[in-house]
This record gives sequence, structure tokens and C-alpha cells, in this order.
Amino acid sequence: MNAMSNTTSYTKPHYFSIDLISFFLQIMEKLLTFILLGLVFVSTAESRDHKSFKEQIPYSAINCRKHIAYLTDFGGKGDGVTSNSAAFKAAVANLSKVASDGGALLVVPPGKWLTGSFGLASHFTLYIHQKAVILASQEESDYPLIDPLPSYGSGREAPGKRFSSLIVGTNLTDVVVTGGNGTIDGQGEIWWKKFKAKKLKHTRPYLIEILHSTHLQISDLTLTNSPSWHIHPTYCSNVILERLTILAPVDVPNTDGINPDSCTDTRIRDSYVVSGDDCIAVKSGWDHHGINYAKPTQRLSIRGFTCISPKSALIALGSEMSGGIRDVRAEGLRALNSESGIRIKTGVGRGGYVKDIYVRDAEMYTMKYVFWMNGDYGGHPDTGFDPKALPEITNINYRDMVAKNVKIVGALSGIKGDAFTNICISNVTVALENKEKNKEKRFFIGEEKGKKLPWNCTDVGGVSSKVTPKACPELVEKEVDCAFPTDTLAIDKVKLNQCFVNV
Ligand SMILES: *[C@@H]1O[C@H](CO)[C@@H](O)[C@H](O)[C@H]1NC(C)=O
Ligand SMILES: *[C@@H]1O[C@H](CO)[C@@H](O)[C@H](O)[C@H]1NC(C)=O
Ligand SMILES: *[C@@H]1O[C@H](CO)[C@@H](O)[C@H](O)[C@H]1NC(C)=O
Ligand SMILES: *[C@@H]1O[C@H](CO)[C@@H](O)[C@H](O)[C@H]1NC(C)=O
Ligand SMILES: *[C@@H]1O[C@H](CO)[C@@H](O)[C@H](O)[C@H]1NC(C)=O
Repeated sequence: MNAMSNTTSYTKPHYFSIDLISFFLQIMEKLLTFILLGLVFVSTAESRDHKSFKEQIPYSAINCRKHIAYLTDFGGKGDGVTSNSAAFKAAVANLSKVASDGGALLVVPPGKWLTGSFGLASHFTLYIHQKAVILASQEESDYPLIDPLPSYGSGREAPGKRFSSLIVGTNLTDVVVTGGNGTIDGQGEIWWKKFKAKKLKHTRPYLIEILHSTHLQISDLTLTNSPSWHIHPTYCSNVILERLTILAPVDVPNTDGINPDSCTDTRIRDSYVVSGDDCIAVKSGWDHHGINYAKPTQRLSIRGFTCISPKSALIALGSEMSGGIRDVRAEGLRALNSESGIRIKTGVGRGGYVKDIYVRDAEMYTMKYVFWMNGDYGGHPDTGFDPKALPEITNINYRDMVAKNVKIVGALSGIKGDAFTNICISNVTVALENKEKNKEKRFFIGEEKGKKLPWNCTDVGGVSSKVTPKACPELVEKEVDCAFPTDTLAIDKVKLNQCFVNV
């Protein structure tokens, strides 16, 4: 009878008590939860089969892509042992077919993906998952031999051909290599050993080398242990390099971080490099080959950059600068335990120029040199270099810096008969090392001999203001703030899109 009356009351909604409504809502809530759980279960099951929808991860890119594929779709195996060279090549070939239909993104999923050299495509994104590691093959045969760069005329380490880099691209537009801080590991040990033992017949591979391309982005990655340089964009324009962590042992040869080479409109931001060579080395070709090719690096903007390089520089300009380097703006810099801060390297035969260089807002701790210029840097691609080809080094501006525990503030050596001119250094405060305190410590690799002066300038000219310790007399003291451009480069204005990837 009670049950009956209850049933009756259910059919009469206007008699519902508050209790009954809340009971009903609870049931509905349970039902909803059940349905939602079911949906999640179905989608998880689906993701195993079709790799759709496990997790939606945001990432920043110059362009989002319409199509998505996974390395595993092309036979990839992330076991750290199986070679994925064929899988990468098949994936890129396949996905390049949709370049004109919204482009494609290739996901490198969690795992360890061994591979030899492979190429990228236009309107293409390589996305390396946070838990993914691309492992570079240690077999020379996985890096086909290619011609030297026309602006170099020779491999840097041996005449003639050179090994392809791990990830390459030529004549591309709109190409992105990114991830959630996923890793590309060059496994360079074997190459460093062979190089030191002079057992290599060709120039070592780089980790990433992109040639003749425009709208290139490399970001949000960890790059490590490259056989040689880590990132080498060459003859490119509109290049964005951001949020990169580049790590190599500090005592291995030529593991430069980022080497913009004959590129126009490049920005490097918010990155961190620990390396056995220069953290950033700006280049533009070698002697007569670079002079003839005549492609400068210009409009390069560096902002938010940290470096540890006990054997080399925070930012080096040269030594290959024969196509010219101009309009470099760098700020928000930090160097720790590094050989030098800003270094210009050039020599007789290089030709070209380094001009309109602006650096401000830098902190440096434990340095051999803060400012270093070498007009006697050697190394020629062949005997064809022109001893009359003298570089023009002018309008170099350094300001607003502090440095501590420094051996030498400025060692500025120009070229006899070809002085470096219009050097300006202002508002720079340097604390020299406390020799007594450091006696037992070794801060630098290599021997330190002889008496060092805080400044030593030859064949250079310019001005200085508010510099401690007082600059060399070649930099005439004058009330001045060194220049820094007030305009903003177009590459600095490029905004990245928020995109999503399902993994
Ligand atoms: C490659 O591209 C074609 C379309 O051109 C497509 O049918 C095929 O499924 C793609 N994927 C693989 C794994 O081959
Ligand atoms: C790149 O483009 C140049 C000029 O259009 C051409 O000569 C060269 O063969 C191309 N290289 C590749 C690898 O596509
Ligand atoms: C990326 O990974 C490296 C290596 O594990 C780490 O040092 C770095 O802090 C990470 N960066 C970010 C932004 O997560
Ligand atoms: C001098 O440089 C420091 C940074 O080292 C900066 O904070 C300060 O504003 C600069 N002073 C002037 C007058 O520009
Ligand atoms: C100063 O620099 C010149 C030219 O590089 C060099 O020959 C000389 O030995 C240096 N002097 C000192 C005291 O370091």
C-alpha cells in the first residue's frame, strides 16, 4: 500500500517533495557519471587502436596543422634499438602530400626512437612528445655524404664532402620542430672520440641543419650531445628558435649551441645552452667562398639567453663571417663559468664585415674575458684565399653589463692596417677575480700563464663611458650611452598560435 502510494506520487509531479527531487537528482548524477565514465573508457580504448584522443596537449607554433599522424603509423618502433630511418622517411613523404591541404603534424610518441639522417617537408610539424627521445644513430653510413656548403667551399673539418646532419631540410617553407620539451640526443660520444683521434674523413654531422628555407621554427625541445653543432639554420629567413635547452659536456669539441649562418630575420629567445664550444656562433661563410656567395646574417635578435661555456663564448661573431654580419641585437644575457662574453673572431682573408652590433643587459660570473676580439683568427678552407681580403669591423656597441670574478675585461686585437672602429662600451662594471681566493681553484680548461692586464687593446678605436675598471686609452672616455636600436624587428613581432595535439 505504501509502495503503491509512492508509485502514485511518482506519476504526480506536483506532489514531489524536496526529498524526492534531490533523490531523483542524485540518481541522475550517478547515471551521468556512469555515462561519462563509459565515454572515457570508450575513448581510451579507441586511442589504443586509432591513437586518437588520449590527452590533448597545447603547443605554440607559427601554424597549426590540419592533419595528424604518428610515427607508429609508419612502422616506427620506440624501443631504442630498432632503426626508424625508414619510418621517418615514409612518414615525411606521406605527409608532404597534404602540404597544400592544411599541412600535417607527425607525433613522435613516448619512447626511444633510434634513427639516421632524415629530411623534413614544407607545411610540416615534427612534434616530439615530452617523454620521447630521438636517438641519433652512431653509424657513419646512416649519414649520407653531401656537398660542402657553397659559402664554405669545403667541409669545415676535412676537404670535400661532409656527413648529412641528423634532421635536414632544403628549400622548405613553414616547417616546425617542436614538442613538450622532448629530446633529440645526438649520442655524439663516438664522433668526438673519432674526431680527436683524427679518424674521420669528413666533417661531422650537426643535429639539425636547415638550408634555403623560410618560416622555420625550432622550439620547446631539449637537444643534447650533438656530434658537432646543435642547430645550424643556413641561408634561411624568418627563423624562430625558442625555449630550447641544449646540453653537451663542456670538454668535447665543437658542440656549439645555435649557429645562425647567412640567415635574415632570426630570433633566439628564452634558451639555455651548456656546451664545449660557443653557445651562439653567428656565421656567414668562409673566406673567398663566403665573399663570393655574399649572403650575410642580418637582423638577428637574441633575448633571454643563458650560457655555460668554459672553453668558449656566450655569443661569438665569426670566425666565418665572409658574407657579412650586421644588425645583431642581443639583450637579457647571462653567462656562467665561460671563457668569454661577446667575442668577435676574424682574420686576414676573411673579407666581409661585422657591423651594427648591439648588446645590452648582460650578467656574467666567472669569466676569463668579458669582451674579446681576435683579428688573427686562422683557418682557411683552401689555399685560394685572398690575403688582401680584410674584414670591416665597425659600430660595435656594448652597454649595461655587470661581471664578477673576471680575469680580463677586454682583450681587443684588431688587424694592423685594418683597425676595428667605432667600438662603444658604456655602463659596464666588472669585478676582477680575487687571485688569492681562486688560487686553488681551476675555473678554466687549459693552462693560464703570464701576467694578465684587465685591458689590452691594439688596432682598435672607439669610446667608453662609465666603465670599471677604466677602459684602455684606445676607447676614449666620453659622456655617452652606447646605441641600441629603438625600433622592433618584424621577426620580434611574430606571434605564435596556440595549437593542440592529441597524444
Ligand atoms: C599515406 O597517404 C595516403 C594518402 O595519400 C593514405 O591513404 C595512407 O593511409 C597514408 N598513411 C600511411 C601509413 O601510409
Ligand atoms: C633547391 O632549390 C634550388 C633552386 O631552386 C635548386 O637548384 C636545388 O636543386 C633545390 N634543392 C633541393 C634539395 O631541393
Ligand atoms: C627541459 O628538459 C631539460 C632536460 O631534462 C631540463 O633541464 C629543462 O629544465 C626542461 N625545460 C623545461 C622548460 O621544461
Ligand atoms: C647600467 O646598467 C645596469 C645593468 O647592469 C642597469 O640596471 C642600469 O639601469 C644602467 N644604467 C643606466 C644609466 O643605463
Ligand atoms: C696584448 O695584446 C697583444 C696583441 O694581441 C699581444 O701581443 C700582447 O702580448 C698582449 N699583452 C699582454 C700584456 O697580454
